Amino acid sequence: MTGFQRVDGELALDGVSLREIARRFGTPCYVYSRAMIEAAFREFDQGLASVDHLVCYAMKANSNLAVLDVLGRLGAGFDIVSGGELARVLAAGQPASRVIFSGVGKSHAEMRAALTAGIKCFNVESEPELERLDALAREAGVQAPVALRINPDVDARTHPYISTGLAGNKFGIPHERALAVYRRAAAMGNIRVEGIGCHIGSQILETAPMEAALQRVLDLVEALADEGIRLSHVDLGGGFGIRYRDEAPPDIRAYCERLAARLAARGLQVLLEPGRAIVGPAGALLTRVEYLKLDKAKRFAVVDASMSELIRPALYEAWHDIVPVAGRKSAGRSYDIVGPVCESTDVLGVDRTLAIEEGDLLAILSAGAYGMVMASNYNTRPRPCEVMVDRGRAVEIRAREPLATLFSLERRID
Ligand code: LLP
Repeated sequence: MTGFQRVDGELALDGVSLREIARRFGTPCYVYSRAMIEAAFREFDQGLASVDHLVCYAMKANSNLAVLDVLGRLGAGFDIVSGGELARVLAAGQPASRVIFSGVGKSHAEMRAALTAGIKCFNVESEPELERLDALAREAGVQAPVALRINPDVDARTHPYISTGLAGNKFGIPHERALAVYRRAAAMGNIRVEGIGCHIGSQILETAPMEAALQRVLDLVEALADEGIRLSHVDLGGGFGIRYRDEAPPDIRAYCERLAARLAARGLQVLLEPGRAIVGPAGALLTRVEYLKLDKAKRFAVVDASMSELIRPALYEAWHDIVPVAGRKSAGRSYDIVGPVCESTDVLGVDRTLAIEEGDLLAILSAGAYGMVMASNYNTRPRPCEVMVDRGRAVEIRAREPLATLFSLERRID
């Protein structure tokens, strides 16, 4: 039995009781399903099976070593955005040859580390970045494999904070500049032009903007070929939306099959960079109700998780379903689910109708992506533990942070 399902009225993940996980590991606690992560990856991988492809998991979504390992075993590549993520993916035992490096602000040190490791490709986002990379590659006596990330200027129609493919965003090289920058890149001694990429945003629920971006990218591929610049791969980024509430995300497998059919004749390797769609639905944050606080105007359920563990509701007013682990027979009441942090935005859910009592366990769903990775230590709260359910077992894949580590790097002055 895969997924979050009730067994005798109680919520379980892949058949493993969430109450039992909370008892063993405490709350707050992130739980992930290995089976769901694998199934989501395969939707992409099998959808693209008819063409040469590499699904580069955007590890920013959830970078736990166990998650990287699970995906690496299925042949995933990895999209990284920092030297930290490079170190992590190598620590997870993944080959650099399956790593691509995105991001607008790659430092000298990060570029050198990636050149030394021998990554598959740098997604270069500006001309100064291209110059820096050429110079560093010359110093190192190597050729830097490069794809230019193009800003196709299409509207992904998602939350403005996570829209990245419009003119005026900091990401990518403007579409109109692309040919000129490719010409420069092709003339540089230590740059090897390999591909072209784009990424237009996140939590995208319509395929039309992605298809519009693809068309712009393919037009460039042809214009480049006319000039004798032949590319070996095209990277269409990530951004595939998931259901948090009542959204209807596109069918990944069907989308990938269409993409593969459209690109089949071109002989280009196809790369994607999905993050959220692979890990988002596969994770939940378990939290316990500390207090029910009845105010005249509102009822609050104060829980032991907060914006420190899951910042998405505070940052984007994002919705996550919140469900009791064990159902109660009593009638539900409307609560704002809030955390202990001293901020009015420390709200995990507004106006949720729940039948709950103090001590009850809640599961905050669809929290596998951009949950733990965005957790902070605000209010000196240790980051929670992470548990992976794997073939009927619950394995702790990251321990709860010991309190002392939160200030172990600090020193009092004399
Ligand atoms: N590739 C690039 C270059 C990206 O910038 C991103 C995400 C991805 C791939 C993966 O996108 P995904 O498939 O996960 O949508 N913290 C926000 C999401 C920020 C996404 C940033 N870039 C959230 O919690 O909704």
